[in-house]
Amino acid sequence: MIYDFTYQNPTRIHFGKTALEHLSEELKNFGSNILLVYGKNSIKATGLYDKIMGILNECGKKVTELAGINSNPRYSQVMAGAKLVRENNIDLILAVGGGSVVDCSKGIAAAAYYEGDAWKHYWEEQCPIENKIVPVASVLTMAGTASEMNTGSVITNEEKMLKLGRVFPFPELCPKFSILNPELTYTVPKIQMVSGIFDTFSHLMEQYFSGDDDCTSDYLLEAVMLSLINASRKALVNQHDYEARSNIMWCATMGLNKILALSKTQDWEVHMIEHQIGAYTDCPHGVGLAIVSPAYYRYIYRYGLPKFVRYAKNIWKVDGTGMSDEQIALEGINRLEAFIAELGIPQTLREVGTTEEMLPLIAKSTVKGGGYKKMDSEDVLAVLKECF
Ligand code: NZQ
Ligand code: ZN
Repeated sequence: MIYDFTYQNPTRIHFGKTALEHLSEELKNFGSNILLVYGKNSIKATGLYDKIMGILNECGKKVTELAGINSNPRYSQVMAGAKLVRENNIDLILAVGGGSVVDCSKGIAAAAYYEGDAWKHYWEEQCPIENKIVPVASVLTMAGTASEMNTGSVITNEEKMLKLGRVFPFPELCPKFSILNPELTYTVPKIQMVSGIFDTFSHLMEQYFSGDDDCTSDYLLEAVMLSLINASRKALVNQHDYEARSNIMWCATMGLNKILALSKTQDWEVHMIEHQIGAYTDCPHGVGLAIVSPAYYRYIYRYGLPKFVRYAKNIWKVDGTGMSDEQIALEGINRLEAFIAELGIPQTLREVGTTEEMLPLIAKSTVKGGGYKKMDSEDVLAVLKECF
């Protein structure tokens, strides 16, 4: 743990089958004006909307609703929410849904009382917070992003064709509380379930593939990867396997609440590339990550060979006898690709609607960074062509 850090995560988590019972006690800590933010249809179809409205009514809350948040939430939706917050003097934004709804709610919380161009200030220029922030809380219905316990807000500006992530400073934008009942995830369509699983797996790899120091965080990341692989295989067989779904849900929260990134350099270039694929195609986030990952790791593994050998051996149990380090590392990436196939995720960009003309545009607009290798537009284009 050679790099200094300060860590405090203030989100209170209520986890398990009875988690929703804590909503009324939590609501007592806030004023009466609630903005309820949710997605297209799922919470009404599952009956969760009625349950939550019942609790809000019992607690005497005045509820304003913002419905229809897109998967890959739009900046126009952030602005619509910001207006509702101001007009209704909102005391708490309650996000009920997946990462998109929670991310959008944090965007609203930050933008509502910012007087200038919030997109430019908070997402493009990544400026510090300068205005009043409205508290956010969540009832999570889909596992994957860890938005329930972090300050991330990934927003698509459809006019600018940009999907940009903002990691707001802790603790202001951390949800005040998050309610995680794994049973609520049973109804997530299979493609979204595996997208969420791979999103978490990618978060773990983005944090893992950087640095050559001996860091406790890397051992913890390996442990969560192993748990996630094991639980995912069980959930593929039975989507109602509580043990598996609860492990997946907690792996997801742990995967990006920043505790596994402490004292670590990190990569995050797969995410940067996927965000721009998402801006052009609107594909599910985890699906885009799964398409890019094997091509990206084959492109960069030579720059971090010892870590890729460790990954192949510790995660994918590559025996390695009689193999060179390069062969072991590549076999690890092959097994990652096989896992993606096992999850049933599409494996080419064409399958999610990317056209050849989009590739240079995506490459150019991708935020550049990287872990073992610093990427430029030509590097990103080479990766995109490889998985096209
Ligand atoms: O809109 P509804 O009808 O609610 O349907 C949603 C949506 O279509 C559905 N769904 C969610 N829970 C359900 C359900 N359907 C049935 N039963 C349930 N219980 O699933 C679909 C996808 O939901 P969404 O919220 O979009 O998925 P996810 O949680 O994967 O969030 C993706 C967004 O999070 C961002 C991504 O870029 C993407 O925009 N990320 C946020 C991060 C963060 N805050 O730190 C980090 C991630 O890397 C990621 O970038
Ligand atoms: Zn992600």
